[in-house]
Amino acid sequence: MHGPTFLSAALLAATAFLSTPTLAALTDCQKSMVQQLTNTFENSQTHFAFDYCQDIKDGRGFTCGIVGFTTSTRDAFDVVSTYSKDPGYSQEFEPYLGKLLELNSTQSDSAEGLSGFCDAWYTAASNPAFRAVQVAKADALYYTPAQKIADNLGLTLAISRGQLYDAAIQMGIESDPDSMPSIVNRTAKPEGMAEETWISNFMKERQRTLCNPSTPATQAAWCASVTRVESYTHLLETGQTNFTETFKPLNNDGKEFTINCNLDVWTQYIPGKRYGEEGGSGGLSTGAVAAIAVVLALLVLVGAFFVHRRIRHGTWRPFGKRSMVIV
Ligand SMILES: *[C@@H]1O[C@H](CO)[C@@H](O)[C@H](O)[C@H]1NC(C)=O
Ligand SMILES: *[C@@H]1O[C@H](CO)[C@@H](O)[C@H](O)[C@H]1NC(C)=O
Ligand SMILES: *[C@@H]1O[C@H](CO)[C@@H](O)[C@H](O)[C@H]1NC(C)=O
Repeated sequence: MHGPTFLSAALLAATAFLSTPTLAALTDCQKSMVQQLTNTFENSQTHFAFDYCQDIKDGRGFTCGIVGFTTSTRDAFDVVSTYSKDPGYSQEFEPYLGKLLELNSTQSDSAEGLSGFCDAWYTAASNPAFRAVQVAKADALYYTPAQKIADNLGLTLAISRGQLYDAAIQMGIESDPDSMPSIVNRTAKPEGMAEETWISNFMKERQRTLCNPSTPATQAAWCASVTRVESYTHLLETGQTNFTETFKPLNNDGKEFTINCNLDVWTQYIPGKRYGEEGGSGGLSTGAVAAIAVVLALLVLVGAFFVHRRIRHGTWRPFGKRSMVIV
């Protein structure tokens, strides 16, 4: 959801250079479970929404793909421009590369020059090369930095490492007061306490931030999403702290459900809904609007025909008084 800053890009480069084996990196199974839970919070489905693209009118332009890359925060540009250099690129974004490059410097949420962009994104999602780029970017921009912070804090439980990733996806990893690293900084250091106590404290601070963010524009949507924290709190309270093959978190309706290890989650593509250009939740597609217009025009024509008949022949029957005789 948040774009990378120059600082975080530099940080990524530095951490890649200095990378040492991590303390307690999540196993692929644990990571797949964490990812499926975040997907549930983001899209009410455990699989990735590779083809999602919509202008949700949140001041960030188009929100697209598996972690909500946006056209105003550079990460959508990052995904598209990396894909455009991939040998598997199938040219979907040719009309938009120039415009996206411009937005990469202005960080505007304007949709000007991006007509058809969501259709291009939807089409590109059927290309495995584009899906692989989305996964790699989500890892580089959110997963790896979140796990680095977990390492620095000495966190070893999957519940803590997963919760930091989920917070990074939702709230970003930049230096603003609402970001995941800022919430970590407002939580007392984990030294001298059980890791369960620390993650419980972190989640309380995350919940407080979700309902009192420094950016008032996100307050309503964020405060409504505290189920993300409640679900992890449920895992903590039921002793499900180091995910193995299966676990039972809460879904967006607060009901317990089962998530299993699924190593195919990063490659599996299940086509989703194609959203219209104009976006907005519940908005009608251009096709639907055209169909309604045609039906209305026909009704008006038929009505006019009957009125015309009534005036000329003094009957509402379409074929005049004679039609009564035939019937
Ligand atoms: C949690 O799982 C990880 C990865 O399997 C493992 O390295 C770690 O020792 C486990 N931690 C505890 C406390 O069981
Ligand atoms: C996109 O913007 C970032 C941040 O200003 C900059 O570092 C990067 O070079 C830009 N990318 C291109 C291709 O211009
Ligand atoms: C959090 O604290 C660390 C260590 O004091 C500091 O380097 C980092 O910039 C802080 N991050 C934010 C987002 O405030």
